[in-house]
Amino acid sequence: MSKVPPKQEGDPNTTGHSWDGIEEFDNPMPRWWLWTFYATIVWGVAYTIAYPAWPLVSSATSGLLGYSTRGEVAVDIAAVEEANAGINARLAEAELTEISADAELNGYAVSAGAAVFRTWCAQCHGSGAAGFVGYPNLLDDDWLWGGDIEAIHTTIAHGIRNEDDPDARYSEMPAYGDIFEPQEISQVVNYVMSLSGSDHDAGLAEPGAELFADNCAACHGDDGLGNTELGAPNLADAIWLYGGDEETLTETVTYSRYGVMPPWTQRLGEAEIRAVALYVHQLGGGE
Ligand code: HEC
Ligand code: HEC
Repeated sequence: MSKVPPKQEGDPNTTGHSWDGIEEFDNPMPRWWLWTFYATIVWGVAYTIAYPAWPLVSSATSGLLGYSTRGEVAVDIAAVEEANAGINARLAEAELTEISADAELNGYAVSAGAAVFRTWCAQCHGSGAAGFVGYPNLLDDDWLWGGDIEAIHTTIAHGIRNEDDPDARYSEMPAYGDIFEPQEISQVVNYVMSLSGSDHDAGLAEPGAELFADNCAACHGDDGLGNTELGAPNLADAIWLYGGDEETLTETVTYSRYGVMPPWTQRLGEAEIRAVALYVHQLGGGE
């Protein structure tokens, strides 16, 4: 530290700190700054009284103005519902098969349906509706339970093989592990592989054809083309719900699968179910 020059008359007050001859002044804060600072304190306290702020054990003080973000969202939702009430009522009442001809109604339904799909269906069917193993692709024209608008509507409304809706789509493929010898399973699996032209063992497929005709054709059809009344997939189109390699097919035939989809009438209104049915129908594969 260098030597501090002696203090003179009229010099500002200093704190006494000095670094290399630079002294720290001890001036009061400017008035305007101080008042602004006090004002922010008053504002802060008033704000926490007016609005929800102080945490309590399991909630928070609610504030004198009674404001809540949930309340704000509820008002917005109510406003949207009110604005859409008319068109939703029309959607719920219109003849299902005629909606696609009404451009305005159909346009509304498809965009509302896309939102329903993202919220309730994408977890299982994928955000682009392309599906996963066991969860069907809804973009193609390969339908388990039928792809016209009425069939799709019924599937969505009541679900598949669930216990919550007595009108759910239902069928049950037997587990052939309890019925066939392993050799017979291998034969019928190779026959199934031959249906879609995959590499297979022709020597096994030959006796497999007879087993198929006797045991499987009742549901999957004589040529394995499937049956939408029973949700039995087409086995000849190389589109697989569970997989078309020998190992997966053996597993499917041995244990069967029993895919389940929940019914949606219990969670969604008729307008929403119709909207999402129309959305799925127009994705490309609707009949
Ligand atoms: C918990 C999973 C799950 C959810 C959520 C779900 N699904 Fe499904 N969905 C399935 C399964 C599994 C199947 C196939 C069942 C079978 O094997 O028959 C299916 C089948 C379908 C089918 C029949 C496809 C065909 O080929 O016939 C349609 C249509 C469908 N779902 C639409 C929807 C819509 C729309 C939603 C949302 C409102 C939805 N799903 C939500 C699991 C789900
Ligand atoms: C009672 C009707 C019924 C009978 C009989 C039946 N199936 Fe199925 N099968 C189904 C249904 C329904 C499914 C859809 C799977 C599910 O989600 O449970 C299915 C699915 C399959 C699959 C899966 C297809 C895929 O895309 O992954 C294969 C393979 C199959 N069956 C083969 C057979 C063979 C082989 C036999 C005869 C040994 C047979 N099934 C008998 C109804 C039947």
